[in-house]
Amino acid sequence: MHPKSIELLNKAIADEIMAVHQYMFFHFHCENQGYGQLSNLFMRTAVEEMGHVERCAERILFLGGEVEMVTSGGVQKIHDPKAMLELARKLEEGSVQDYNKWANECSANADSGSKKVFEGLVDDEERHYSQYDLEMEKIHKFGDQYLALQSMEGNKGEAAPAA
Ligand SMILES: [Fe+2]
Ligand SMILES: [Fe+2]
Repeated sequence: MHPKSIELLNKAIADEIMAVHQYMFFHFHCENQGYGQLSNLFMRTAVEEMGHVERCAERILFLGGEVEMVTSGGVQKIHDPKAMLELARKLEEGSVQDYNKWANECSANADSGSKKVFEGLVDDEERHYSQYDLEMEKIHKFGDQYLALQSMEGNKGEAAPAA
């Protein structure tokens, strides 16, 4: 049933898995540099992308297809937070474009269930984009002080245990 939808859903899963890997990589490195807020944002977003894998997989199985579980690309080893946010925004923008297109394609093939899955993903990716965009705006507005503040907040959290 609906081989084209199954193909598109598997393509989406490959992009989502790539995003999970990339955002977890960013999460580790933000954590390591003491950028607690950014680190949490990347972690939370990675978990949501994992949820997207699940939604697509459920739909593929419903249609009688097989879940391929491959990744669409390797991790880019970026350590600078501004460059991380730049790539993250680009990934989200690409997902919004692809999923809108694929929703229309599913609709044209009279598969409204898969169309709805893609439309649901579009809502989430647009939110991810604006979350990353807001962080980027704050860095531009407050400069490196914004990041320095996060790293001070982080140190507070690691205060020595009471004697
Ligand atoms: Fe996603
Ligand atoms: Fe996303």
